[in-house]
Amino acid sequence: MVKARQDMVMRGDCIDAMRQLDDASIDMIFADPPYNMQLGQSVLIRPDHSRVDGIDDGDTWDQFGSFAAYDSFTTNWMTEARRILKPDGTIWVIGSYHNIFRVGAVMQNLGFWTLNDVIWLKSNPMPNFRGRRMTNAHETLIWASRQRNSRYTFNYQAMKTFNDDRQLRSDWWLPICSGNERLKSDGVKAHPTQKPEALLARVVMASTRPGDVILDPFFGTGTTGVVAKRLRRHWIGIEADPEYATLAEQRIEATRAVGDPDLLEMPERRAEVKIPFGALLDQGLIKAGDKLTCEKGDYKATVRVDGSLKAGDDSGSIHSLAAKLQGRQSCNGWTFWYTKQNRKTVIIDALRQEARSNLGL
Ligand SMILES: C[S@@+](CC[C@H](N)C(=O)[O-])C[C@H]1O[C@@H](n2cnc3c(N)ncnc32)[C@H](O)[C@@H]1O
Repeated sequence: MVKARQDMVMRGDCIDAMRQLDDASIDMIFADPPYNMQLGQSVLIRPDHSRVDGIDDGDTWDQFGSFAAYDSFTTNWMTEARRILKPDGTIWVIGSYHNIFRVGAVMQNLGFWTLNDVIWLKSNPMPNFRGRRMTNAHETLIWASRQRNSRYTFNYQAMKTFNDDRQLRSDWWLPICSGNERLKSDGVKAHPTQKPEALLARVVMASTRPGDVILDPFFGTGTTGVVAKRLRRHWIGIEADPEYATLAEQRIEATRAVGDPDLLEMPERRAEVKIPFGALLDQGLIKAGDKLTCEKGDYKATVRVDGSLKAGDDSGSIHSLAAKLQGRQSCNGWTFWYTKQNRKTVIIDALRQEARSNLGL
């Protein structure tokens, strides 16, 4: 195997390849591992007698002897993935009902901290040809930080802007990869599970910054590399099948990065007018006596009239108290604290946005 470096496809098994990478050297991992669909036992035929072009007997990369074998494979590659991920790095893993629950359990067992499960709703799913089950119209992406207290990248404001100034939701409505984007070889799909670039674009925009290093240990046609290059991130792909690896290289070679780096600038909070927590009290969005909690409810505090928070004998600003309770140097209270509004749990950062727009900012 060739020595690892950025912006290259490594040919071979991903566990061997990841062993070549340094500890804590990767900012984000996107993994689209074998689904363990076990379709090898039967071939799907459409009502018009054509064969469904899915993963089939030829795709031995998707076949495992047992659930135990799949779990062991998952644990092994994910252990390496965790070693090479930076402490504040995140991992995305995509899968279907065949594998995603097993994958999620392994992730938690290894210490990853789940941030979201995103449902990719397919606007044009493949029908269930046998008519014995519902159309399987989604896949699940698990997004997790390396550890619970990671200060991971989430470009909250950018993704909100992307979503017409509303918080990005965890259900993404996107078509499957088709048309010109779908790679063909002799007129047939070059790869059975090529993911849409739009899906990867959201993942990359949400959780990385220009210049970050993204690793994809199951590179396939290199969709992750295409999007990373376009958005001026570094990438490393690992692919066991040499033909897919070559296809990915050619595809990335033909991809142009966004020419003007200014176009990659995403709106950041620093560029916005600062709103103090007190403005939420001024506007009646928060009241003295309101209870705030962290996302999981482990930490609780009460709002005082001056906008400070009190928790037992401790008190301080939304930031300093959040940091003190967790034993950390600092913490962004806007994204740490939640409150109840009309029986719904709301992050106080959303109230800050409301306060900002009430002020016409
Ligand atoms: C689900 S596909 C990924 C498709 C990819 N996301 C795309 O958009 O083209 C999984 C890929 O992982 C590769 N693969 C399977 N096992 C592997 C392993 N142990 N190491 C490296 N690659 C592997 C397969 O050859 C296949 O191309």
